[in-house]
Amino acid sequence: TPIRLRDYRPPAWSVEAIELEIDLGIDSTEVSSRLTLRNDPQQSTPLRLDGEGLELLAISLDGRKLEAHGYRYEQGVLEVHGAHDGSVLETRVRVRPAANTALEGLYLSGSREHGFLLTQCEAEGFRHISFFPDRPDVLARYTVTLRADRERFPVLLAGGNPAGSGDLPDGRHWARFIDPHPKPCYLFALVAGRLENIQRDYLTTDGRKVKLVIWSEANVIDCCHYALDALERSMRWDERSYGRSFDLDVFHVVATHDFNMGAMENKGLNIFNAKYLLADPDTSTDDEYRAVEAVVAHEYFHNWTGNRVTCRDWFQLSLKEGLTVFREQQFSADMNSASLKRIEDVALLRRTQFPEDAGPLAHPVRPAEYREINNFYTATVYEKGSELVRMVAGRLGQEGFRRGMDLYFERHDGQAATIEDFLSALGDANHIDLAAYLTWYSQAGTPRLHAKGEYDAARHEYTLSLSQQTRPTPGEPDKKPLPIPVKLSLFGRDGQLLPLHTDGEAQGDGAEKVIVLDRATQRFVFKQVASSPVPSLLRGFSAPVVLEYNYTPDELALLLTHDADGFNRWEAGQQLAMLAFDTLRDGDDSVACRAWCKALAALFEQDAMDNALLADLLTPPGEIEFADRQSEVDPARIHAQRETMQHRLAEQIGIDALLARYRALAADAGEPRLDAGSQARRRLKRCVLELLALIDAEQANTLAARQYSTASGMTDRLAALSVLVRRRAPQAASALAHFRERYADNPLALDKWFTVQAQVPDEPALAVVRKLESDPAFTLKNPNRARSLLGAFASTNPSGFHRADGAAYPYLAERLVQLDALNPQIAARLATAFNGWQRLEPLRRHAAQQALESLARHEGLSPNLSEIVGNVLKH
Ligand code: ARG
Ligand code: ZN
Repeated sequence: TPIRLRDYRPPAWSVEAIELEIDLGIDSTEVSSRLTLRNDPQQSTPLRLDGEGLELLAISLDGRKLEAHGYRYEQGVLEVHGAHDGSVLETRVRVRPAANTALEGLYLSGSREHGFLLTQCEAEGFRHISFFPDRPDVLARYTVTLRADRERFPVLLAGGNPAGSGDLPDGRHWARFIDPHPKPCYLFALVAGRLENIQRDYLTTDGRKVKLVIWSEANVIDCCHYALDALERSMRWDERSYGRSFDLDVFHVVATHDFNMGAMENKGLNIFNAKYLLADPDTSTDDEYRAVEAVVAHEYFHNWTGNRVTCRDWFQLSLKEGLTVFREQQFSADMNSASLKRIEDVALLRRTQFPEDAGPLAHPVRPAEYREINNFYTATVYEKGSELVRMVAGRLGQEGFRRGMDLYFERHDGQAATIEDFLSALGDANHIDLAAYLTWYSQAGTPRLHAKGEYDAARHEYTLSLSQQTRPTPGEPDKKPLPIPVKLSLFGRDGQLLPLHTDGEAQGDGAEKVIVLDRATQRFVFKQVASSPVPSLLRGFSAPVVLEYNYTPDELALLLTHDADGFNRWEAGQQLAMLAFDTLRDGDDSVACRAWCKALAALFEQDAMDNALLADLLTPPGEIEFADRQSEVDPARIHAQRETMQHRLAEQIGIDALLARYRALAADAGEPRLDAGSQARRRLKRCVLELLALIDAEQANTLAARQYSTASGMTDRLAALSVLVRRRAPQAASALAHFRERYADNPLALDKWFTVQAQVPDEPALAVVRKLESDPAFTLKNPNRARSLLGAFASTNPSGFHRADGAAYPYLAERLVQLDALNPQIAARLATAFNGWQRLEPLRRHAAQQALESLARHEGLSPNLSEIVGNVLKH
């Protein structure tokens, strides 16, 4: 049965303090715990603690060993009789790290000989380590003592401040950590093994000396410097932007190659998937450098949004995740280009979250129920959650938002809070009622914002009629209207911005205003408008909605050419590309497609164009975005038609111009530098090469092969390899062989080798993937490797995965069963590739349904995988 938000009850039993003594071993680790308990006098339920797969070795209550009738341990719950407020419960359990393939709780990363031990507790991993009320509203003080063989585990780490260490008999040693800040158990962490570190001192603005330490295995410690710099930048930024400083004497960050997610914000001991911590020019692309910076910041920012103020229950997950993604996005925008960052984030939202909202897995940012919480670490909770914070922040303005955040921290520091608490603090600090925004949190689906403009030439008035509609989602047939802030400007037909005059229903001044649609329909009148305008709506993507406005191709071309705001310029291009796509039929000439090609070709000629923005403008919406707009999806056709558009664009620009630009951009390759200008050149170069490949394959292949062999960094090397592989160039095989050999001992680089092949379009992909499975480096046991092949194929290669004969569906189903036996979280995540199957054209749809139904019938699926399969099938 599902867990429901409305059933929330405060804990009957909580824990004031926990003392853990852990004797570490790879096969067997013994965990002794001493809990000082608190009982809510209102609730007379017996003491119940969570515990999964724990081998109970000893148990005593208030110093007395418990007899068998004094407790019961079954089905993940330890029930203890005779406990009262202030009781002390002591347990000793054995866990088996090396046998833990789910990578939840305490597990081994790497080999038995050389690997290290670590933990992952969010969301409910702590119950795999010790008995505890495993819920985020139980905050306790932690004292942790680790003991292990000194030779095998020279480094012993846990969250909190160091509180002593020393030798023990028999070559063992110990180390103790005390965390002064009460925390929920999902933020507990330990790490033990042979690790190297780099470190630096940091002085907070409130005068605390903090030691920042990054740990990794010896062979990659040199790849941690970029992350250390990013950490320092993040810490400064949070002090400057939110007035929040770090609150322990030491901050540890550890990299592992075996991790289910991106990274984890454990108090004082962040643990990272190596993919988001290690960075060096030979292994990492420009995008990956930026991802490292963003994830380092994200985890660090959790120290206040997540740790100091945590979540009352897992329904409130977006309270910490949406808010922390928003803070991370603000930080990245400050460190890099704000409009490029916005483009990247909106593209991500459309590629990952919109399909979620449009399919059987749709759920609100604050879900009302779940079976397996790990299935709710979704694009909706994270990315849409961030958009909701952004809307509210926009409503309050920069200073008002800061006032609200200050009040939020003041009220809730040290507490487990709710989304209502968050909105109340933001609202109260500004004397504004934000309650209407709660509907955004409780209602699934992407609203459609319909806009229509009418110009009254006699009165010089422009009337904008807005209406909203959200389609039903599973379990939510009726939708309420939402407050939708629409930031807008009006353009004259000559491309000039027009001043705005309204009746006072809008915020803002000059030529840009925000109007808020908070009913089903509403009209807004603008006065003194000299001529019939072209509206630039939803600027900066001011609300996570789908805008429906009947633009003509010329109007979009005007905005694409003249809008001063980089984001909206890109957006006009995307809308024009959508129009082009919709009106393009095989062999047909489409007015919109011509307008799109012409406008972009003209921008291509402009010297003043920023290289990175130009690259983004030249990239049409992805196949997933096109599919999202169709009622009957044929992924092969979408792939082909999108390529037709790019082909026409390339023709419009012309071979000569493309070649000249490619040569100019390639000319100043040298040492790979990371500054924005160099990154932008590489990005545009890739784009130009891809366009060239569509109209002059031979020439493009030659250039790509040369770029591959002369590239000085991974961005250029991988771009070239990708062109060769995707175009099935004759040079592809030798480049692939070279890459395989060169990076044989570099797992992060080798992941890219699997991915680039798994993304080869159309029919050939499945055979390629099957063949790669027999590469000795392939394994389902490592999440990054499994994702690099199966995830890349099923989730990022629509024309390959959705092949016409449906053969990839039973193939994936079979792998999911194998993976599920090892790592249910990863299996469940990969299974979401089936999302959207109901809208496939009939042949594919039936094949997908069969594969899913037989998967659902499979005995012994994990709760994780069966929840996803059940939901995806059900609706
Ligand atoms: N809190 C982590 C982050 O977003 C993600 C951890 C998710 N873990 C999980 N098992 N679902 O930074
Ligand atoms: Zn997070």
